[in-house]
Amino acid sequence: MKPTFYVTTPIYYVNDVPHIGHAYTTVAGDVLARYKRLMGYDVYFLTGSDEHGQKVEKAATTAGETPLELADRVVKRFQALWERLGISHNDFIRTTQERHKNGVGRIFKDILEKGDIYLGEYEDWYCTPCETFWTETQLIEGRCPDCNRPVEKLKEESYFFRMSKYQEQLLAHIEANPDFIQPKSKRNEIISFVKEGLRDLSVSRTTFSWGIPVPGNERHIIYVWFDALTNYITALGYPDETGNYGRYWPVDVHLIGKDILRFHAVYWPTFLMAAGLPLPKKVFAHGWWTVEGQKMSKSLQNVVEPNMLIDKYGVDAVRYFLLREVPFGLDGDFSHTALVQRINSDLANDVGNLLSRSTAMAVKYFDGILPAATLLTEADQALKLKTEEMVATVDKFIDEMAFSKALQAIWEVISAGNKYIDDMAPWTLAKDPALSGRLATVMYTMLESQRITHCILSAFLPATSEKALASLGWNEAVSKEGLAWGGLKAGTTITKAEALFPRMEE
Ligand code: MSP
Repeated sequence: MKPTFYVTTPIYYVNDVPHIGHAYTTVAGDVLARYKRLMGYDVYFLTGSDEHGQKVEKAATTAGETPLELADRVVKRFQALWERLGISHNDFIRTTQERHKNGVGRIFKDILEKGDIYLGEYEDWYCTPCETFWTETQLIEGRCPDCNRPVEKLKEESYFFRMSKYQEQLLAHIEANPDFIQPKSKRNEIISFVKEGLRDLSVSRTTFSWGIPVPGNERHIIYVWFDALTNYITALGYPDETGNYGRYWPVDVHLIGKDILRFHAVYWPTFLMAAGLPLPKKVFAHGWWTVEGQKMSKSLQNVVEPNMLIDKYGVDAVRYFLLREVPFGLDGDFSHTALVQRINSDLANDVGNLLSRSTAMAVKYFDGILPAATLLTEADQALKLKTEEMVATVDKFIDEMAFSKALQAIWEVISAGNKYIDDMAPWTLAKDPALSGRLATVMYTMLESQRITHCILSAFLPATSEKALASLGWNEAVSKEGLAWGGLKAGTTITKAEALFPRMEE
C-alpha cells in the first residue's frame, strides 16, 4: 500500500475575486501534491470555497443577489483560475454543499452533547446599522470601525465553546510536537498567545441568517470559522470514518497565510480535541505579498489579478516566480520588474537555453538518436553526481516547505549543465571523428541530467516539463524510480526543443 499524503489550502471567501494571495497558497499546495504523487504517495489535495457568513450575505445584498447566487458566480472564477494555473486538486469543497452542512451539524452536536459547547450570553459593543459586534480593541475612538457611528453595549444569547478547558492540553501538544506549527517564529507567537490564556469562544450568532443553523436551535447560526475549519474533514466524508476520512485524516499539512494562523493553530485543534478527533500533523503559515512595495488593497487599486499575469507571462513563469522569489514563510514583494528578470535569467537563459542547445546538438550530431555513454570522465561523473545529489536535496527542502531552496538546488544543476557544455565544447569534439565516442558520452550525460531535472521540475512547472520531457523522448509518467540515473536508453529519439520561455522586454 502506498503511504498517504493529505494537503489542504484555505477555502476562499466568495465575497472577493481571486488574487495573487489566493493563487500563492494554491500553487504551493499543488507543488507539494504533485511532488508527493511523483514520489509514490497516495495524495489527497483539497481546496474549496468558504460561502457562509455575514460578509458574503452583505456582498450579495450589495450585488442584488441571493448569497447562493453570488457564491455560484464567484466560485466559477476560482475554479477557472485553478484550471488555468494547472492546479491538480482531488476535490473542491463548497461549504454550501450538503456533505459539508451535515458534517458541521454533526461535530457541533457531538461537542454540545459532551458539554464543551454551552448556551450563554455574549456581551460586546454592537453597531446597529452594521449589525456587527465589535470588541473594545476594535473600536476606533469608541465608535464603529466600519461606519464611525456610535456603538452600544449589547447582550446576545450565544453558544460558547469551552476553549479555556483545552489550554494546557494544546500547549502540551505544541511543545511535544516541534513541527506542528511552522515556521518557528509563528510557533512562538502562538505559544505566547495560548499562555496568555484562552477564553471561551462564541460559536453562534443570531444577527444574520446565512449559514448553518445550530442543530436543535435554528435561531442560531454556527460561527463562520467553526463552519469553515470543519471543511477539512467534511470533504473526506466525515462523520463516515470508513472512506476517505479513515484513509487521509489526520492531514499532513494545512497550508495557510499568516493572518489565519490563530484559527488553524488554536481554534481548530481545540475543536478537534473536544470532538475526540486526531489533530493535524502540521500547520504551515506563509507570508504576505505586497505589490511594488505597497499593501495590496482594493482601495489602492493595486490588486494583482492572476489571470492577467498568466496572459502576459505564461502560467509556469507565474508559478515559478511565486515560489522562487520569496522563501515560503516570509513576506515578499511582487513587482513586474522582478518577475521579468526571473523569466529572462532563470527561465529563458538557464533552463530554456540549456534544453534547446543540447537537443539541437543531439539532432545535428546524431540525427536525434541518443547514443550510448561509454567511459565517464571526471567531468561527466561530476554532473551525474550533482544531479543525483540534487534529487535528495530537493526532497529534504520540500519536506521543510522550502520551495525556494528546492528550486535553487535544481537551478544549480541547470547551471552546471550549461557550464558542462561550455567546458566539453561538443562542437569541437564533433570535428574529429576519432572523438565520436567522447562526443556520445557528453551528449548522453547532458541530456540525462536534464531528463531527471525535468522529472522533478514537473512538480513546479508541469506544462514546461511536459514539453521538455517529450523532446527528450521520455514518455513515461514521472516517478521516483524514474529519478535514477540511466533512465534514458540509447536509441531514444531526441527532438529539438522550441524555446521554453521567450525573453521578455524589461
Ligand atoms: N475563508 C477564510 C479561510 C478559511 S480556511 C478554513 C479566508 N479566506 S480568504 O479568501 O480571505 O483568504 C484566504 C487566504 O489568502 C489566506 O490564507 C490569506 O493569508 C491569503 N491571502 C490574502 N491576501 C494575501 C496576500 N496579500 N499575500 C499572501 N496571501 C494572502 O481567510
